[in-house]
Amino acid sequence: MADQAIINEVGLRDGLQNQPVTVDTDTKARLAQLLVDAGMRYLEPVSFVSPKAIPQMADAAALTPLLPQGDDLHYTALIPNLKGYQLAKEAGYPTVALVLSTTDSFNERNLRMSLEQAAQSCETIIAAAREDGIATRTYISGALACPYDGPVPVSLPQQLAERMFAAGSDEVAIADTIGAGNPQQMKAIMAPLIRDFGAERFYVHLHDTRGLAAAMAWEAADLGVRKFDASVGGLGGCPFAPGATGNMATEDLVYLLESCGLDTGINIDGLREAVALAAEATQRPLGGRILDWMVSQEKQGKTPCLW
Ligand code: COA
Ligand code: ZN
Repeated sequence: MADQAIINEVGLRDGLQNQPVTVDTDTKARLAQLLVDAGMRYLEPVSFVSPKAIPQMADAAALTPLLPQGDDLHYTALIPNLKGYQLAKEAGYPTVALVLSTTDSFNERNLRMSLEQAAQSCETIIAAAREDGIATRTYISGALACPYDGPVPVSLPQQLAERMFAAGSDEVAIADTIGAGNPQQMKAIMAPLIRDFGAERFYVHLHDTRGLAAAMAWEAADLGVRKFDASVGGLGGCPFAPGATGNMATEDLVYLLESCGLDTGINIDGLREAVALAAEATQRPLGGRILDWMVSQEKQGKTPCLW
């Protein structure tokens, strides 16, 4: 059996949180269904954040019961603080995604906390989640570069990851929130962490702002990482990370991993409807490189041969 990789679809959250258009709840539910129909089994559909800060996520509690149901579907809610944790727990999420940025500036802009306050807040939430039987994934945001302070030394995300594991976080995600990192940095950060904690406890979350997301994803895969975030059609950006574009497009990540022999369980062709709906709903052109290529092949009357 092929080596399995998990792709966690974050388009509905990371993708939609920064759009000028607020997509209605029913359309979000339809998009989730199309993604699940294409084989997606891991999704982050919502965040429980202040509706004043992020109005696009104000329907998190309303969307939750409309999502496709199934024992094989794994949903995560992003939370910025304890209040968000309580709301995610009330809504029944089995896993929460916590956010800890690498600098004071980024934590202050995003969470209105210093780095130390944010780390302590994560520790408090992780302890509560352990009591409640809720799994935790802590995102080390701006792990390679901070949108305000620039490049980050590799020791910083490493120390924060270690601290979050020590607090009891089940998983840690290394997030290049503004897409300013490179594969060498990825390796420098992750190789020692993987040696100490095991590759299975890590996610990578990559924005493709400068076109290196695929190279970094493969670097992580080569180190043994098998869990990746991605966003349908490359939708996204972070409101508190100026200049960042969307996550690596889900379809491009599927192509990368599958063509290198990893099984994602996701059908690229099936993602096309999801990309089309996301583009229609956000009123912007979307789609990874692989879709352009597939369309160009079809225009020539050829059936695209993917791998
Ligand atoms: N969910 C819903 N509402 C929340 C909330 C949460 N997780 N956290 C705070 N709030 C509400 C409070 O109830 C309060 O509402 P009110 O004005 O109606 O009384 C308001 O937000 C401000 O509360 P306060 O405790 O002063 O918040 P804060 O200023 O310390 O922090 C944040 C506000 C950080 C929680 C808010 O700015 C936020 O949610 N930001 C979004 C961060 C984000 O999503 N970033 C992108 C993804 S990483
Ligand atoms: Zn992101």
